Amino acid sequence: MPLSEEFLDKLKDANEISSVMSTYVSLKRAGRDNVCLCPFHSEKTASCHVYSDTQSFYCFGCGAGGDVINFIRLIEHLDYLESVKFLAQRAGIPMPDDSYDRSGEVKQRLLEINREAARFYRDILLSGAGREGRDYLRNRGLTENTIRKYGLGYAPDDWGKLKAHLLSKGFREQELVDAALLVRSQKGNTYDKFRHRVMFPIIDRRGNIIAFGGRTLEPDAPAKYLNSDETAVFHKRSSLFSLNFAKNTKEKFLILCEGYMDVISLNQAGFDNAVATLGTAITPEQARLMRQYCEEVVISYDSDGAGQKATMKAINLLSEAGIEAKVLQMTGAKDPDEYIQKYGADGFRMLLQQSGGAISFELKKFTAGLDMETPEGRASYLKKAVALLAEVDNRIDRMVYISDTARICSMTPGEIEKAVEERRRYKSYSMKQQERRELINPVRKRSGGENLGRSPEDKAQRGIIAFLFHSPDMLKKIEERLTDEDFPDENYRNMYNAVAARIKNGISLDISSIGDEFSAEQVGRIMGIISEHNLLPYQKERLNEYITVLEKRRDKYGGKKPEEMSESDLLERMEKLRREKSGRK
Ligand code: GTP
Ligand code: MN
Repeated sequence: MPLSEEFLDKLKDANEISSVMSTYVSLKRAGRDNVCLCPFHSEKTASCHVYSDTQSFYCFGCGAGGDVINFIRLIEHLDYLESVKFLAQRAGIPMPDDSYDRSGEVKQRLLEINREAARFYRDILLSGAGREGRDYLRNRGLTENTIRKYGLGYAPDDWGKLKAHLLSKGFREQELVDAALLVRSQKGNTYDKFRHRVMFPIIDRRGNIIAFGGRTLEPDAPAKYLNSDETAVFHKRSSLFSLNFAKNTKEKFLILCEGYMDVISLNQAGFDNAVATLGTAITPEQARLMRQYCEEVVISYDSDGAGQKATMKAINLLSEAGIEAKVLQMTGAKDPDEYIQKYGADGFRMLLQQSGGAISFELKKFTAGLDMETPEGRASYLKKAVALLAEVDNRIDRMVYISDTARICSMTPGEIEKAVEERRRYKSYSMKQQERRELINPVRKRSGGENLGRSPEDKAQRGIIAFLFHSPDMLKKIEERLTDEDFPDENYRNMYNAVAARIKNGISLDISSIGDEFSAEQVGRIMGIISEHNLLPYQKERLNEYITVLEKRRDKYGGKKPEEMSESDLLERMEKLRREKSGRK
């Protein structure tokens, strides 16, 4: 059952948004409202606004926003209900004690299942049936202690052993599917997802087993590693392998690796501060999670091309989260695991000590593919280097890198400094211009600077959603001309459907009551849509235009979504577009 409006109102009355936020950020008065440096992305000028009359916040820099509940969701990494509880506790308000909290029970159950599965895999590994797994791990240099510390296990080469075990423990088949441990075939029967693999439990920082990674023992399996699918307790984007150990480290930095085995080898060698993402590139959520435990991260990715490319991305994401990124450079081994096997813990410690700042890493990268012996090579190196150096705000750091660069290009530091300072002056001028533009029209900018100028269809979809919040009675008018299928973007379509359903059921459209249906990011996005449109008058003509844009689009596609069109439809459609385009020229 959803929480009552009455309760939510009481909760928010007792948790005034600026007083809650001021325990996390330092608020400055700006007219009737407050502003602060946004805690959800890094910035130098405050673009996070806190509105007292609507009891909401919105960051024009990154699009985070919502009410006090959403703020807690984002900053404490809690889900909707947990955030409500958090605020209730803070204000000393009792939670309504009916059975609303089913999601909590379901999660608890999934965690129990995972714990039992981990026990099963581990017992097999340590038994006669797990010989192959044990030999494998031992061959990779893991000790008995390490295997136990990480709770490693073995999934037998069998389609139903785990299923039988968990059923015998009283779990239901569907629960096991929900836990992503069983897969349901098209015919409807279920079987073990992990087979013939060594198993790595993924444990969150509270010590819950939330998922598994499994490494195959087949010589040519299609997937070397297999991870649990997302479940109610497993969100890959915001989980880090081994954070349960790393969060207690005495070191003041974390080591970020690509793989499970890298982290485990590092741990065995005494580096308890290593973590890994789970088979994907690092996400902003993971970067912010790390930021809660450290201010510095040493990126220690594979030495191959893919690893180096991923390093660049990680540098950016970590810096955006306010972390100082350093890069460990490895030669003679392809990953930290291999390096430690070859050169031992001391070897790796040396690499850590030598790991340089992100700037040196990038400066070095710029030489790739250039012949630094030729003037052309040096010139194009210098161009990139100057652009980068101009971004370094700390003067001393800047001087250090300038002298490095000078050495590489065989120039004097003075010459390079001149170029860099000139560029900085230009930059600060154009930044001021940019700031002025944003003051006048603040909503265009989002993190990463993508999204400059939206397409008409984007604008139309956003506009219609904003209108629904502002004047729900317009829904009828919209429905006369559009169906949800006319929303090309799935996110907007979902928002539209959810909002429309609420209006029809007479449920309030308050930003806090939609939190149980939408993720914290989505709430922020909706806030963004609303804030952006609040700057404009809500006129019927404008709504009309939005509807017309989507109508036109539908007619263009003959009422079909591109993914529904047959190949010949599509070809015809593309041909037509091409003709239109060349006709216009
Ligand atoms: P080992 O061969 O066991 O040493 O693997 P590795 O740790 O050197 O793996 P690699 O560098 O190939 O991959 C790093 C990480 O990417 C792994 O730990 C996995 O999390 C993930 N990964 C690798 N292969 C796959 C795959 O086939 N599927 C998925 N989903 N993830 C993978
Ligand atoms: Mn490896």
